[in-house]
Amino acid sequence: MEIVHTVRELQASLAALRAQGKAVGLVPTMGALHEGHASLVKRSVAENDATVVSVFVNPTQFNDKNDLEKYPRTLDADCVLLEQCGATIAFAPSVEEVYPEPDMRQFSYAPLDTVMEGKYRPGHFNGVCQVVSKLFDMVKPDRAYFGEKDFQQLAIIREMVRQMRFPLQIVGCPIVREADGLALSSRNKRLSPEQRTQALEISRTLFASVDYAKGHTVAETCKFVEEAIAAAPGLRLEYFELVDGNTLQSIARWEDTAYPVGCITVFCGEVRLIDNIKY
Ligand code: PAF
Repeated sequence: MEIVHTVRELQASLAALRAQGKAVGLVPTMGALHEGHASLVKRSVAENDATVVSVFVNPTQFNDKNDLEKYPRTLDADCVLLEQCGATIAFAPSVEEVYPEPDMRQFSYAPLDTVMEGKYRPGHFNGVCQVVSKLFDMVKPDRAYFGEKDFQQLAIIREMVRQMRFPLQIVGCPIVREADGLALSSRNKRLSPEQRTQALEISRTLFASVDYAKGHTVAETCKFVEEAIAAAPGLRLEYFELVDGNTLQSIARWEDTAYPVGCITVFCGEVRLIDNIKY
């Protein structure tokens, strides 16, 4: 596996691959890689001739400076994992390389980006679209891989690709969970052993709510989740919303959608965790 830090090096390596007619997959990441990322990389390796993995903690998508500073950075370990997964190129640029000048572009995909994370993290999706569109321009992949854990991000990126007519396929990949149910996240590294146990209540509640939903209304199911998280030690609910999986708009009745998804954000101490489940 090649490790490159500049767009020039990246594009030189890609030109060689393209000259051989190779299909290129891109897996954008912010590093601190875990088995969830590994599943994206392995899928890309299986479906393309070459896989580029970007490892870049994108400052423009953090609305909280503290969160940006605390975001784990583990490039050496990341490269070991990427090599094991069969990645072709790890692209780990500096902030100056990605943003030689401030990115003034504004992306707006309302109403997809005004609800849930968009409401609680103003500017977050604008930053995601800035960096992901830059990565698409730099790599020009045939396919790009994103996890369904960031359910809203995936919907917004699909919409960006549609509106900007990027000639590539977006591949959404299922959430990877620990054996006990906790959704894998780079932020889990920041949980103490006690918090790790407390955080388990998030996925437990989501799974239980799927059974509960079978005999209850949308409002009752929301209440079930809210009360379970409120009663769980160490957790603070930011939001739980039952939405249509395509429009991301809240539903009032199960009949409102054929694709109900429950999206949740919970603070465990200072660590902000997200998860989602299909009903
Ligand atoms: O999902 C992430 O890790 C990030 O939002 C992404 C897509 C790599 C953009 O920085």
